[in-house]
Parts: sequence; C-alpha cells; structure tokens
Amino acid sequence: MTALLRTEDVWKAFGDREVLRGVSLELAAHEVVALIGASGSGKSTLLRCLNLLEPIDDGRIWLGDDDISDPRADGNGIRQRIGIVFQSYNLFPHLTVLDNVTLAARVVHRMPRAAAEERAHALLERIGLADKAREHPDRLSGGQQQRVALVRAIATDPEILLLDEITSALDPELVGEVLELVRGLAADGATILMATHEMSFARDVADRVVFLDGGAIVEEGAPAQLFTAPREARTREFLSRFTA
Ligand SMILES: Nc1ncnc2c1ncn2[C@@H]1O[C@H](COP(=O)(O)OP(=O)(O)OP(=O)(O)O)[C@@H](O)[C@H]1O
Ligand SMILES: [Mg+2]
Repeated sequence: MTALLRTEDVWKAFGDREVLRGVSLELAAHEVVALIGASGSGKSTLLRCLNLLEPIDDGRIWLGDDDISDPRADGNGIRQRIGIVFQSYNLFPHLTVLDNVTLAARVVHRMPRAAAEERAHALLERIGLADKAREHPDRLSGGQQQRVALVRAIATDPEILLLDEITSALDPELVGEVLELVRGLAADGATILMATHEMSFARDVADRVVFLDGGAIVEEGAPAQLFTAPREARTREFLSRFTA
C-alpha cells in the first residue's frame, strides 16, 4: 500500500496532559477512514495536527512523500493540499456562498475568477444549492451551510479531506443531506479521514474504522469486523453505549 497520509508515533501534549500518545496511522489514496472514540479521546487534536493547526511534540507526519511535520515545511503550502471541515460551519458570514466557495481558489491558488466561479457553480448545482450562490450564509439552514463548507473544502481539489464531526451541530433532520454528500464524495474517490459519532454512517461508508481511546489507537479494522466482533474490551465497552 502506498500511503497518501501516514503518521508515525505522533505525540502531543497540552501542558502536562498527553492528548496523543503514539498515534501511527496510514491512509491509502481513495480510502475512507472513520475515527471514533469518546469525547476527549483526541480525535480533533489528531485532525488539527494533521492539518498543521497544532504542532506535534514527537513523531512524523507524511503527506505523500513529504514530511509535513518537519518544522521547516511550508505550512501554508501544505494546508492548501488538505481540505478540512469542522463541526460548526465556519463559512465567512460577510461573503456570499459563491465567494466562500471560490475564495481559496482565487486568492490562494490564483485561479481566474471566471474559472473559479464556473467550478463553484457546478459544485453548488451538484448539491442543489445553485440558487443560493448570491445569498449570505445566515440565509441558509445548518445543513445547507455545512454542505457549502464541504464544497468549499473540495473546490481546490485537495489530496485529502479531514472531517471533524461535521454533523454533530445539526438538527437531526439535516444530518442526512450532509452525510449523503460525504457518501457521494467517497464514491467519487475522495480520500477522507473523518471523526464521527455517526456509527451507522461510519459502518456504511468507511473502508476502515479506527478506535481512539486516551489518545492511542486501541483497535482498527473493517467496519464489519470492528462493529460486530471487536477484539478489544475497550472497543466493546465504547460501542455498547451506542447500541444500548
Ligand atoms: N488547545 C487546547 N489546550 C488544552 N487542552 C486541549 C486543547 N485542545 C484539546 N485539549 C484537550 O485535549 C483532549 C482531547 O481533545 P479533543 O478535542 O482532541 O477530543 P475529541 O476526541 O475531539 O473529543 P470530542 O468527541 O468531544 O470532539 C481533551 O482533554 C481536551 O480538553
Ligand atoms: Mg472533537
């Protein structure tokens, strides 16, 4: 397997609190991996470290052939290769939907406005929001905003998408439309690492599930194995909370 993303023994502490304790993880191109684990287990911290929003204390992170944990690495350049979407929609409130989607393409990737907008329109069309292009985010539902955030993240063709609990701030009736979009991106061959509490979705869409506990990977495997026949007692205990 040629890993698109690889972490090797990643450690991260906040003060004297060890939050990541030797995480080694690999994602192949086009693989969809779900990161599950209790609140505080380190899922968001791991995603933030992968996107270089947090420096790591020890270990290495590779994106393709590049050691992106090298302190001399070009952080902005690397972040341009990674799409990230967080729990709460972080669209720019003062920009229209269209400008939100095209901003990085225009400003960072220096794509001409017409080309960026053409692509943005095609993406908005695809998610059924073409008619919202000129609206500001506050005129959209939470689910619509989160779909725009996803489209914004893929507008620059990142090598990998990091998704952090992207449905957990949504009203239950809006979760489905966002998950449907993620399902579509996965079907199109995107490489996705997603922290999620949506176990049925992880089971459905992920090629592999990684269970994090106390900042360490306890167990990983295909969803069919991990959800039905977890090997580790801690995994069983965690999963029992969802089926009880
Ligand atoms: N900037 C920070 N400063 C200090 N502690 C932090 C910081 N960010 C996270 N932590 C701590 O690190 C631990 C892991 O947090 P993290 O957000 O990664 O967990 P999580 O698995 O994403 O949880 P959740 O499911 O609630 O989102 C927690 O104990 C948290 O309080
Ligand atoms: Mg989190």
